[in-house]
Amino acid sequence: MLILGIETSCDETAASVVEDGARVLSNVIASQVDLHRKTGGVVPEVAAREHVLKMLPVLEQALKEAGITGTPSEMIAAIDGIAVTQNPGLISALLAGTSTANTLALLGEKPLMGVNHVHGHVYANWLEREDPPKLPAVILTVSGGHNDLLLMRDHGDFEILGSTRDDAAGEAFDKVARILGLPYPGGPEISKLAKEGDPTSYDLPRALMNDSLDFSFSGLKSAVMRLAQEEGDKLRRSDLAASFQEAVCDVLSAKLIQAAEKHEVHEIHLAGGVSANSRLRELTEERLTKSLSDAVLRFPVKPIYCTDNAAMIAAAGYFMFQKDPSRFDKWQNVEAEAR
Ligand code: KG4
Ligand code: ZN
Repeated sequence: MLILGIETSCDETAASVVEDGARVLSNVIASQVDLHRKTGGVVPEVAAREHVLKMLPVLEQALKEAGITGTPSEMIAAIDGIAVTQNPGLISALLAGTSTANTLALLGEKPLMGVNHVHGHVYANWLEREDPPKLPAVILTVSGGHNDLLLMRDHGDFEILGSTRDDAAGEAFDKVARILGLPYPGGPEISKLAKEGDPTSYDLPRALMNDSLDFSFSGLKSAVMRLAQEEGDKLRRSDLAASFQEAVCDVLSAKLIQAAEKHEVHEIHLAGGVSANSRLRELTEERLTKSLSDAVLRFPVKPIYCTDNAAMIAAAGYFMFQKDPSRFDKWQNVEAEAR
């Protein structure tokens, strides 16, 4: 079954064709990073306008790269269904994707699946795998916009075990990068700078290191800001980047392992933009071998599947359809929802 995925929840206009929820035939992403660098973050209306400009060229490229040719209507006829990010996200950005998907699905008479973006990130771990994940699994989805610990019992059956009480980890990376004078998005930049630094040199706080599976990163961000103000020119930027990264990865991996210990799961997954971070992967692996050596640890097979993409949305849509095809066989309209 071929699903066309569409993702426009934030600052990537993305389209992808995925076969049977795993085989990626195309994965096209038009990033708006350069545009948003000027403002140091995403301005929703600017993002939405850019999505509208890029949507059709990105769609055309995704269909062609998947080997689908012909007139536009022949191309749409060749796919079996459409999946689009419905929530959460920037409302005006989401609308660009959902209105395109609604129109294509209506004219092409295709089933249309509205996908939760966080669940989309979860399905990044199904992409390009010969051996699909075995459920139940504990999953940490950690990005710029969300930071959730999930128990996934079955497809479509998610329980939120913990969430961020303030900033998401990716957001903290982006804000700290700004304090250190690094460009947006901050995660990869901090990770690069941290390689030259000593992670033990600055003593930074780790919040909620108790029984709670919730997260909080605003205190850590404020501590970095205070240090930067106090030290001024004496600030050792790479040491601070390394110490900050260590603090975030310490908390994330500890809580992921803690959640896995509480629930009997076959697998432990990392997903979302921050799951590209090599220190996070390394620390989780180290802790896993110590406490849960039977569980399988997975992160997306390519960094491009960690950050926002439409292949993960197509995969999520495929599993939604498989679970209950009758839900998707009527005229429908996927409504964009900010939350
Ligand atoms: O999943 P994503 O593309 O967008 C959201 O759904 O939010 O994640 C983007 C976030 C940004 O905050 C970025 O700084 C962070 O993921 N990120 C990283 C790394 N690569 C991206 N954070 C830490 N280390 C990385 N290597
Ligand atoms: Zn995301």
